[in-house]
Formats: sequence, C-alpha cells, structure tokens
Amino acid sequence: MNILVTGGAGYIGTHTCIALLEAGYSVIVADNLSNSKRESLEKIKTITNKEVLFYEIDVTNTQAVEEIFQQNSIDGVIHFAGLKSVGESVEKPFMYYQNNLVCTLVLINACLKYDVRRFVFSSSATVYGGNHVPFVETMNFSQTSNPYGETKAMCERILTDITNANPSFTVTLLRYFNPVGAHNSGLIGEAPNGIPNNLMPYVTQVAKGKQEYLNIFGNDYPTIDGTGVRDYIHVMDLAEGHVAALNTVTAGVHIYNLGTGQGTSVLQLIKIFEEVNGIVIRFKITDRRQGDIASCFADVSKARKELDWIAKRDLETMCKDAWRFEQNYNHQVM
Ligand code: NAD
Ligand code: UD1
Repeated sequence: MNILVTGGAGYIGTHTCIALLEAGYSVIVADNLSNSKRESLEKIKTITNKEVLFYEIDVTNTQAVEEIFQQNSIDGVIHFAGLKSVGESVEKPFMYYQNNLVCTLVLINACLKYDVRRFVFSSSATVYGGNHVPFVETMNFSQTSNPYGETKAMCERILTDITNANPSFTVTLLRYFNPVGAHNSGLIGEAPNGIPNNLMPYVTQVAKGKQEYLNIFGNDYPTIDGTGVRDYIHVMDLAEGHVAALNTVTAGVHIYNLGTGQGTSVLQLIKIFEEVNGIVIRFKITDRRQGDIASCFADVSKARKELDWIAKRDLETMCKDAWRFEQNYNHQVM
C-alpha cells in the first residue's frame, strides 16, 4: 500500500515514515522543507534501509499535489504539513489560516478527485481549549486561544462536513497531546529553529549548555506542585498510532486522542530528566505564559478499544531519547 505523507520531512512525519516502512507500507513524502531538512529523509533510509519517494512541493499548490496523485497509485494520505508555532500564529494569522487551511482543502479535493478514500489528519489537544481534564473525544470544542488552534478546529470541521457528504470516505482526526523524545537511533528528533517554545527541546538545550537555564512558566497553578501538567507522549508511540489509524476500516469520521492518559508537571519532568541522564537542569520560576492552561491530559480509552493502540514508552525513555538526539545534533550544520 502506498501512503502519501505530507510534511513527512518534519518531526512527527519522519518518525511516522519509519513506523510505516517498518509496517510494510511504501511511503511518498510531500514537503516544502519550510521547517525541515532534506537530510532527515536520508536518515530515514539509514534507519530502515528503505527508500521514500520525495516530492519537494508546496501542498497549497493544487497542480503540484495532483501530479503526485497522477504519477502514483495512492491508497491513503497522512496529512502533517502545516505551520505549528502558537506565538507566530498570533503575529501572522493570515499566513497560518492560508497555509493550514489551503493545504487541507487542496489535499482532500485531490483525494475526492482521484478516489483516495483514506485520510488521516494531525489535529491537536488544543481544540479542547478550556474544558476539564481528562479530555474526551465527545467534548465540544472550546474556544481555542490562538489562530494556530483555530486552524486545527476549522480543518476538523471541514473534513467532517466533506466526509458526511461523501459517505464512502474514511477520515481519522488524531488529537495529539505533547509529543516528545526521538527515535532511539539518535539520528532524528525535534530540532526547532531558534529558541525553542516547547518544554522538552528547551530542557535538552539547557542540558547541552546552549541555553543557560529554563524559565518555568508559573508555579501557582492548581496542580500537584503548582507547575503546568501535560500528557507527554513518545513520538514513536505517536507514529505507531498513525499506523493503527490507517487500519481503521469503517467509513466515516473517527476521532482519537493520542496521549498516554498520564499527566506530568514541569518539575516532575525535570526531575526524571535529571535522574535518567545524570545532568542538573538549572531553572528559574517566572510568570505564567499567556494562553497556558493548568492541566492537559487525555482520556485514551477510545484509541485503546477501537485502534488496539496504546502508548508503550515511559517518561524515562522519552527523556533519554530526547537527550541522545540533542547530543548528536549539530545546530550549526543542519
Ligand atoms: P514540523 O514543523 O516538524 O513538520 C511539519 C512539516 O510540514 C515540515 O516539514 C514543513 O516543512 C512542512 N510544511 C509546512 N507547510 C507546508 C506546505 N505548505 N507544503 C508542504 N510542506 C509544508 O511539525 P511537527 O511537530 O512534525 O507537526 C506535524 C503536524 O502535527 C502539524 O500539522 C502540527 O500542527 C501537528 N501537531 C504537532 C504537535 C507537536 O507538538 N509537534 C502537536 C499537535 C499537532
Ligand atoms: C504548546 C502549545 C500548543 C501546542 C503544543 C505542542 C502554547 C500556549 N501551546 O502546548 O498549542 O499544541 O505546544 O506543540 O504555546 N513550559 C515552561 N517553560 C518553557 C516551555 C514550557 O515552563 O520554556 C511549560 C508550559 O507552561 C507547560 C509545559 O511546560 O506547562 C509544556 O509546554 P509546551 O511544551 O510549550 O506545550 P503546551 O503548552 O502543552
């Protein structure tokens, strides 16, 4: 089976390509490399000893996307391509709506035109907004606090309406919690441009001495120790969740949380990172970050029951794998 993976050169995309290749799928990647490097695709080959077919295209370009569908027999699409920085989306909302919505529209249109009936979309726990934890798939959308989150909510609605109008179509909306860690080879992982926004890449850069200390955004939340609680999931578990989602056979819209179901505070995560890697992480407590919520973790029972999927890797493994990749990674060269 041939799977088109848009955004397949990025962080979650590369790990998913590996999971797909290991499960016996053939992989076609479409990526404009706006937030990734061609080298990451070569690393996939080193790890799996298998080739991916690569198209360096912008997924907002209808003609370029349709050429892929004309040149290949595609059985399913996993759509990762998108812009994902919350802060940047507040500064440049047009760019976010244009890129993330148009990519989805162009792709789903090509699927309809070329009769590709299986579509998996990268959504986010951000669509739950201010609901109470644990987040369950049946909860109504809450107002998301930024344009990035809105693009995810809007794409979910667009894909739902289009599937309802095309009942032979299978669309799976995967709501990710907090993906962290890296493939255990240490060859691929999360390498954000500039100063990281997210916790784990910031922690690994402090460990490496690239950042002096971590700012912990608030210690007065109603949580176990006052710091924010999140559901961290190993990126390879997340990748394997996509393979499970592709096997969903019934037509219609399916929504699944991909998380571990376990909440971990910032201070708890730092402690585990320090213990498993033998490194002290310097930190300072600062003000809360605007838009943050106290706690975010998943109810994962639906994915367990219907996809027969469960996250297997623990926090110790996430911290070890993230640090192994950071040590290997040369921020100047790649
Ligand atoms: P990433 O930036 O590493 O990967 C996204 C890839 O899409 C990049 O390789 C980028 O070059 C490509 N891309 C962007 N716009 C494109 C376009 N118009 N045409 C072609 N390629 C394009 O991000 P990621 O962390 O791997 O995230 C993948 C998806 O998962 C995104 O849709 C993101 O919003 C979603 N998501 C990520 C997280 C997370 O914490 N990383 C959480 C929830 C949802
Ligand atoms: C952020 C995004 C969310 C996105 C997710 C995954 C915001 C407001 N939310 O979520 O939309 O889906 O990333 O990409 O940006 N923290 C610190 N210091 C840091 C960084 C983070 O204390 O330098 C804390 C945060 O306050 C939070 C936890 O660590 O409690 C996790 O933060 P982060 O990794 O940024 O993820 P989210 O806030 O869950």
